[in-house]
Amino acid sequence: MTRREFIIFMGASAASHSFLSGCQSSAKNQWVFQPIPASDKDDLILAEGFTKQILISEMDPLKNDELFGTNNDYTSFMPLDSSGTEALLWVNHEYFNPLFVTGFHPSNKNFKRTKEQVDKEQSLMGGSVLHIRKTKGQWVVDTQSSYTQRYSAQRSFELIAPRKIQGTNKAVGMVANCAGGQTPWGTFLSCEENFDNFYGNVVFKDGQRQVVRKRKKESMWLDFYNHPSEHYGWVCEIDPKKKTAKKLTALGRFAHESATVHPLPDGRVVVYSGDDKADQCLYRFISEKPNSLETGELFVADIENGKWISLDRESQPRLQKAFTDQTELLIRCREAAKIVGGTPLDRPEDVEIHPKSGEVFVALTNNKKRGNLHGSILKIAPKDGDHTAEHFSASTFIAGGEETGFSCPDNLAFDKKGNLWICCDVSTGSMNKGEYAPFKNNGLFYVPLTGPHAGKAHRVASGPTDSELTGLSFADDGETLFLSVQHPGESSKSLNQLTSGWPEFNGKPPKSSVVVLSGPTLKQLLA
Ligand code: FEO
Ligand code: CA
Ligand code: CA
Repeated sequence: MTRREFIIFMGASAASHSFLSGCQSSAKNQWVFQPIPASDKDDLILAEGFTKQILISEMDPLKNDELFGTNNDYTSFMPLDSSGTEALLWVNHEYFNPLFVTGFHPSNKNFKRTKEQVDKEQSLMGGSVLHIRKTKGQWVVDTQSSYTQRYSAQRSFELIAPRKIQGTNKAVGMVANCAGGQTPWGTFLSCEENFDNFYGNVVFKDGQRQVVRKRKKESMWLDFYNHPSEHYGWVCEIDPKKKTAKKLTALGRFAHESATVHPLPDGRVVVYSGDDKADQCLYRFISEKPNSLETGELFVADIENGKWISLDRESQPRLQKAFTDQTELLIRCREAAKIVGGTPLDRPEDVEIHPKSGEVFVALTNNKKRGNLHGSILKIAPKDGDHTAEHFSASTFIAGGEETGFSCPDNLAFDKKGNLWICCDVSTGSMNKGEYAPFKNNGLFYVPLTGPHAGKAHRVASGPTDSELTGLSFADDGETLFLSVQHPGESSKSLNQLTSGWPEFNGKPPKSSVVVLSGPTLKQLLA
């Protein structure tokens, strides 16, 4: 299927309009609000009527000598009161830039890290719970609150599994936390994505377990901590009030982007999760008991046949032959998915459920080796609206490209009215180059789903040099959108050659930061 054929939602007139060049000259009534053009400026630029405030930046001090982690990604807003102005904000810390943390660049021949450096890196990973409140129109972090907590790569996590994994049911820390979810029982879900950057991966040849290292010496910790790779690649559940942390193996082990929760009337939940790697699959988990994700059934999507296929070893003879028990199957989830016929997809990243229709939207970021440079958003409609049904229909909702004006959709959010917000993730190495040049820096887009402007991607924000915009979450006050600005200046070769100065522009390294978006246009869109 060609990219143009993908644009089925858009209609012919919209698809013929250039969304990249057209927004400066178009009359305002062609848009819900005046979008900004693509930009390569080193700043967070916003459309008119949007305002920004930095909530917190990487390595800002918290209590007890702890620091807010690096490379903030997913955020999740959990209100503490009915006014929507006091809350817990979960923030993932996906990785770190060694140049900004310890002053070394991996291309430096003398690059050899010490245990002290690794310990510092580990303390800055994982996730954070921030106690936040709105005072005089500004959101602030209560760094001294008992709720404010770090859940780093050094903290102990309980491994919830049918048996011990590599001899233990405890894991040290969580890593590569990308996106996540929130449960109706007041816990945050945080997903371990590219875990192999830190503790490698394991392969099984003729029944023999082998550890495979990724050649990313900037983030490899195995030289200092020989933690088993099988302890990573899970969905983690954090109870911010009880301050407990566990890893849920029943949801499978792969490069989990997110864990999007749909509650069922009986207290159980359905969780959707994508495996963010080219030609990997989309998964659905149905919990067995109310208020728990510890047990349940995992399924992989067969998109061609519109069908969920169970990954329960007991009911699948082919899986019984391949794996000795369900725990082994869950550890080697990718292999199991392929055995039963899971459909390879173009990097399934974030999943969001439309608040009115219940349809499931999946960002397929790109798949360069298959010629899909700009990605698309897949829409899955469960049969009869039942998220536990075996069957569904799948279609492409919108495709990235010059016609729509965005490329490489990654993180998504629906506002309460059911309009879509899209963050883009053109990789740092590709941004402003070749086929990606017209899109310039990564942006945030607003896409109304109904009305005369339905399907038009309005560029709301443009990020600083090398950055990705991610981590969208709405506050309950009806006028706030939290946004992560992640990895500005990522391609900097040395502290003397910084490619970004954002946000302080003081000659020091740039800082990933959580930003509060607000302003009259946003308020109007949400009202
Ligand atoms: Fe961490 Fe798939 O983005
Ligand atoms: Ca992501
Ligand atoms: Ca991404």
